[in-house]
Amino acid sequence: MYRRGPTCPTKATIPRKTVVLTGANCGLGRATAVELAKRKARIILACRDTRAAEDTVKYIRRRTKEGELIVKKLDLASLKSIKSFCLDMVENEKRIDVLVNNAGVGYCPFMRTDDGFELQMGVNHLGHFYLTNMLMEKLKDSAPSRVVVVSSAQYRKGKIDFDTINTDKDYDGRSGYFNSKLANCLFARELAKRLQGTGVSVHCIRPGMVFTRLGRHVDYHPVILALIKIPVWIMLRSPANGCQTTVYCAVAKELEGVTGRFYGECKEEPWADVALDDKLANDLWDYSVKVTNLVEEL
Ligand SMILES: NC(=O)c1ccc[n+]([C@@H]2O[C@H](COP(=O)([O-])OP(=O)(O)OC[C@H]3O[C@@H](n4cnc5c(N)ncnc54)[C@H](OP(=O)(O)O)[C@@H]3O)[C@@H](O)[C@H]2O)c1
Repeated sequence: MYRRGPTCPTKATIPRKTVVLTGANCGLGRATAVELAKRKARIILACRDTRAAEDTVKYIRRRTKEGELIVKKLDLASLKSIKSFCLDMVENEKRIDVLVNNAGVGYCPFMRTDDGFELQMGVNHLGHFYLTNMLMEKLKDSAPSRVVVVSSAQYRKGKIDFDTINTDKDYDGRSGYFNSKLANCLFARELAKRLQGTGVSVHCIRPGMVFTRLGRHVDYHPVILALIKIPVWIMLRSPANGCQTTVYCAVAKELEGVTGRFYGECKEEPWADVALDDKLANDLWDYSVKVTNLVEEL
């Protein structure tokens, strides 16, 4: 029933490689965890709801006995939670070979994180910005290692305006999502630039349109919902299919040493102009350091 996109073109396995995967308990994250477990990875399922994550472990184990699965608490809407997760990782993990920044919220009404950031920018960008930087030394020590940033094709409609980035005035959930996904792209490019020569590569991806719970905040009229159900199934991918580009960027040997590029349909795609604004990427980095109080180590 679902629309199908390409499957990951490599059969590479990653035994003994540790993958930190955010938002692993459902949707694309859970499907990514199944695929990476089949490829023998040691996966840290970094989730805000650890009970849901334990259920996900059972779900994965019904599909494969391969790989190792570890559940850890991580709430990307709280800098305190991110810090405590990272301290645990730094102290107790020998290496982090792949960090997959997958978790996300979409199309939400105006809400704020624990630290007062608009929720979509706060979770999708600032939370992952803080997480990635706090794990950076471990990623560098584990080089060659990778960061995979899950963005969206919708980043093309995004805009970063520092005057309105954290205000509820004229807030629109769709634009808020697009802006946060553009922030993912600008972050990925800037991070790749700052990590040149370290052996840590950065890949940014779009999964395609996938049937998940991302749209849970969109309030459709029941009649509209019934009418769009069948076309939606035809247009959307299953999570198992939608996670293939993430998996490709996490495991493909041919991507070692390649960095700062965008992928969709399991192959490289050109960045849209809006993501190629180097000044904006640098300004967003500075803004993110300032609001998260990150002590910059890069
Ligand atoms: N679905 C699509 O068509 C599509 C298209 C383009 C891009 N994407 C991107 O794909 C990624 C995964 O989304 P999805 O479609 O799989 O949606 P989903 O099914 O709603 O999954 C989102 C995941 O993020 C987690 N999450 C949300 N807020 C969090 C927080 N504060 N701390 C930690 N984890 C949190 C969720 O945990 P809970 O279960 O606890 O809420 C869930 O595990 C997102 O970055 C999204 O932007 C999706």
